[in-house]
Amino acid sequence: MESNHVALGMPVVRPDVPSTGGHGGGLLDQFGRRATDMRLSLTDKCNLRCTYCMPEAGLDWLKKDKVLTAAEIVRLVGLGVDRLGVRELRLTGGEPLVRADLVPIIAALRRNHPELPISLTTNGVGLAKKAQALADAGLTRLNVSMDTLHHDAFLQLTRRPFLDQVLAGIEAAAAAGLTPVKINAVLLRGINDGHAAELLQWSLDRGFELRFIEQMPLDADHGWTREGMITAAEIRALLAPTFTLAPDPRSRDGAPAERFEVRHPGSGTLLGTVGIIASVTEPFCTDCRRTRITAEGKVMSCLFSLTEVDLLGLLRAGTTEADDDAVAARWQEAMWAKPRAHGMGHPGLGDADFVQPDRSMSAIGG
Ligand code: 5AD
Ligand code: SF4
Repeated sequence: MESNHVALGMPVVRPDVPSTGGHGGGLLDQFGRRATDMRLSLTDKCNLRCTYCMPEAGLDWLKKDKVLTAAEIVRLVGLGVDRLGVRELRLTGGEPLVRADLVPIIAALRRNHPELPISLTTNGVGLAKKAQALADAGLTRLNVSMDTLHHDAFLQLTRRPFLDQVLAGIEAAAAAGLTPVKINAVLLRGINDGHAAELLQWSLDRGFELRFIEQMPLDADHGWTREGMITAAEIRALLAPTFTLAPDPRSRDGAPAERFEVRHPGSGTLLGTVGIIASVTEPFCTDCRRTRITAEGKVMSCLFSLTEVDLLGLLRAGTTEADDDAVAARWQEAMWAKPRAHGMGHPGLGDADFVQPDRSMSAIGG
């Protein structure tokens, strides 16, 4: 489908659409970045209560009629892929597996987009039962969040005793061919920072790609502190006694994780790789390719965005070609306003410039 405001590379000036500078449309911003990686939250609900994300209680779920329907999801992804240059899709939450229509949604997306890489970020609860159906529906691969292999620390971190379910889910995902399985881990001081090397060994033994994520100030309780967080440098130091890390020669290519080759410290044997996502201390905003849509159908141009641009109202206004044009134009407009960087760790943008968004990670979607 042809985007109607860019013909032959010549931007047609419309008052409601920012100029794309003749680059052929797409989700461009003022700083020359083009978003090709779409992250779509399917629900704000979750069955865990990770302390770095959600409060113990008191977070109200969105009303069902405020959340994107399966048909709206399929339409939005279609607009992203067919008109706006989206090349990769990640389904997030909350916890996407709590959506009863997840498998049919993936099947519909796969029918429309046979070549699109579609991945899922899940906490693994309930995954054991669904992994094969997800693979059969056309899911490409998945990331499972698991911060520790210890039941007590898992309970402390997630406030729920579901570690065995998560472990079973990871095994089922691998068995269903949803590979490479990536494991996401957030380290919290005094809770699971001592488990970093063990988690890496466990992942290497099973051929899973472990990525440590610096804790970001996106928790509903606003409990994050810079002193409290475990930095990427500390993570490397925590692994150093057990493993030798060397920067992975393969290009990072816009990926948020910096990859390291992991070698046995004595023999130098290559054991695999590990990723470290240093969102706070070594941000990668200049290479960011992400566009996020919340479960309510709002564009967040950045995880730390304080403004959200609603697409749901326009989606529900109608389903004609002209309505699609309006949705696509508003999405482009929202991305055009993407901030250059978040205010943490950037030269000239200190913590003082950083304002924590109202939404927790569960409400934005990882
Ligand atoms: N900081 C870093 N990572 C977080 N996640 C959730 N909240 C935070 C936070 N405050 C992670 C989850 C999951 C991914 C979607 O985001 O652990 O792996
Ligand atoms: Fe749920 Fe993920 Fe938030 Fe944990 S981090 S509470 S699993 S949404």
